[in-house]
Amino acid sequence: MARRSLALGSGSYLPARILTNAELAERVDTTDEWIQARTGIKQRHIAAAGEKTSDLAIHAANAAMAAAGVTGADIDLIVLATATPDNTFPSTATTVQAAIGMHGGAAFDLQAVCSGFIFALATADNFIRAGQCQKALVIGAETFSRILDWEDRGTCVLFGDGAGALVLGAGEGEGVDAPGILSTHLHSDGRYRDMLYVDGGPSATQTVGYLRMEGREVFKHAVANLSNVVIEALEANGLEADAIDWLVPHQANQRIIAGAAKKLKMNLDRVVMTVDRHANTSAASVPLALDEAVRDGRIKRGDLLLLEAMGGGFTWGASLLRW
Ligand code: ACO
Repeated sequence: MARRSLALGSGSYLPARILTNAELAERVDTTDEWIQARTGIKQRHIAAAGEKTSDLAIHAANAAMAAAGVTGADIDLIVLATATPDNTFPSTATTVQAAIGMHGGAAFDLQAVCSGFIFALATADNFIRAGQCQKALVIGAETFSRILDWEDRGTCVLFGDGAGALVLGAGEGEGVDAPGILSTHLHSDGRYRDMLYVDGGPSATQTVGYLRMEGREVFKHAVANLSNVVIEALEANGLEADAIDWLVPHQANQRIIAGAAKKLKMNLDRVVMTVDRHANTSAASVPLALDEAVRDGRIKRGDLLLLEAMGGGFTWGASLLRW
């Protein structure tokens, strides 16, 4: 039997304030119809003044630990994916570590923008497989509302704030039918860094900056890269697409998600969709979608999940997980 990572429990958190498309149409030259037709987004959640990425992450982490039946003292690794940390340093992960009463082990942030959760999941999975930790808290948490140019209608309508978390525990298993993470697949290609970036940062400008994006180019690459990486994940496990019970994709745009589902010949009723209510929450979107479908009973123990994401860098990745 080989050592592998088991999914023990998930949690998520959304800020209370909901911002609708109609409200956005009062600020920039856009319409509810345009946003819905191009993206599927109807609304997004926005963090309150003073509510930080770590606050969202702590709520999600506590919910995931409660679902897993563990406390902070049981956790020996936190990998927190974010592109919107509270501060340049220390890591947001260490703020979460202190808040949940985890005093040993290691906690660090990871930056892969919208693919962050998949990268964090792969990192924690490798720590567990290597025997370097027993129980890991994998978190995706973002406050993208703080890095949006609220005058740019091409970007400000697309994003929202939120956090999601998953507790992994070391276990044993063999083959694709046993529970746990079957495999993770990561890619990046820095030649495309200028397609989606923030025009600030501590070293470059000493400002936080705003998100900038070549929307059409990102869209094109997202569909191609996601199609390739989901096929790579299936082939690595000798599986066909019809083995997947649920596709849990990054929630950037309904049309990108539908493109990936079509490639897999998967009906949309097997795809977890939250983009209509959450918009794109970057690294938080996959664990938010996962937790929603676990809590409403769609995802059941034993189901095979395919998680995938693509983001700035470009970065992209996928994971097959037997829940
Ligand atoms: N309201 C009304 N009109 C708008 C808006 C808006 N909010 N935003 C742009 N437009 C206009 C443009 O100015 C343009 O007008 P023009 O033809 O007069 O110049 C027109 O709409 C078409 O613009 P496009 O950018 O070509 O529209 P497109 O169909 O490509 O849709 C979108 C834009 C939704 C951004 C799309 O390209 C997209 O979703 N791209 C992927 C981006 C993404 O998801 N990024 C997230 C991070 S990466 C990731 O998570 C995968």
